[in-house]
Amino acid sequence: MAGIAGKNIVLGVTGGIAAYKAVELTSRLKKAGAEVHVIMTRAAQKFVTELTFREISGHAVATDMWGKLQEFHVEHIALAQLADLVVIAPATANFIAKAAAGIADDLLTTTLLATKAPIFVAPAMNTNMYENPLTQRNLESLRRFGVHVMEPAEGQLACGVSGKGRLPEPSALANEILHFFGRTQSLKGRRILVTAAGTREPIDPVRYIGNRSSGKMGYAIAAEAAMRGAEVLLVSGPSALQAPAGVKLLRVESAAEMRDAVWKEYEAVDAVIMSAAVADYRVKAAASEKIKKTQDEWMLPLVKNPDILYELGQHKKGQILIGFAAETQNVLEYARGKLEKKNLDYIVANDVTEDGAGFNTDTNRILMISRTGEVERFPLMRKTELADIILDRLEALDDETSCKI
Ligand code: C5P
Repeated sequence: MAGIAGKNIVLGVTGGIAAYKAVELTSRLKKAGAEVHVIMTRAAQKFVTELTFREISGHAVATDMWGKLQEFHVEHIALAQLADLVVIAPATANFIAKAAAGIADDLLTTTLLATKAPIFVAPAMNTNMYENPLTQRNLESLRRFGVHVMEPAEGQLACGVSGKGRLPEPSALANEILHFFGRTQSLKGRRILVTAAGTREPIDPVRYIGNRSSGKMGYAIAAEAAMRGAEVLLVSGPSALQAPAGVKLLRVESAAEMRDAVWKEYEAVDAVIMSAAVADYRVKAAASEKIKKTQDEWMLPLVKNPDILYELGQHKKGQILIGFAAETQNVLEYARGKLEKKNLDYIVANDVTEDGAGFNTDTNRILMISRTGEVERFPLMRKTELADIILDRLEALDDETSCKI
């Protein structure tokens, strides 16, 4: 990608075991043509030496607010001004907390406060630390102030436990950064409605019927569309995920609530991407009081929910419609049927029984079918990368159809 050549990236490295991965990240960014200026915190220097980064980046490494840097005049301001992008990878819980509080007690946090460049933060820490509500609150604060928080990976951590909190591989981080520089505001002026996560159909005030959808795919699409400049409304069923930067989030519970929210906006939007796992059935008569466990068997009559996407397809006025099909067999055949029946422009289908694909994973293996019948199959990829592909296809429709985008 041409966009990154000659760009100044300030890479902040904080004191986590994953600091070694920042060396490869530096190398990759440099190979892509960027100038990488590394700032190391005191703790980071315990994991990797300054010399390593200096050799790999070809620039002096800033480690101390009070030392004399050869290349910059007023050190803590110079790097902040020079930066086209500031990336913190790995970002420890301590760094994130300081950044969220606006503390500026070393060169890195001071640079962060002084810069007007976009900021990417890649958290890396033990799962419990990552999931701690304090860390989550701090990350949420950063997001609210426009910081792009890169999603940590899941897997075996250095401390022995397995879970979320790993720094993604340098290639994935580099791709996201390359992508940032390559990205244009190609969806500026467009309004896109995205639905995500599963709906909950009430049984009584306590219980509900739900499904395994986490919302990760839809949230990734919403985030990517916003980064491309679109005005994005994300209508989401219950999900543990936070609203992506620049996205308007409307939370709903049931299919009926989702339907109302979607219909309110349908006229005004250019495209609807329906990634939500909408419950096909609801309880015929949800009880207003908690149902007591008196019977040994309990029959719960269900009635069919309206198919929101089908209804949208019947009342299309130029909107682009993209649907999803989660299948367990005959993926292509079933997905094709849904594309036609629901009058869609694209359907994104996946076999949810495959490893690494489907619900609550960070990855997915999809195929996309266009309304002209073209089938594209993709390998196992991160949902963020797939979001990118889905939006590329949506934009391509602009040229070849009479749709609004
Ligand atoms: O028919 P199926 O449920 O497999 O279709 C999936 C697609 O239809 C998804 O895009 C989903 O969001 C949408 N859908 C809907 N309303 C329903 C059921 C599914 O909009 N009641």
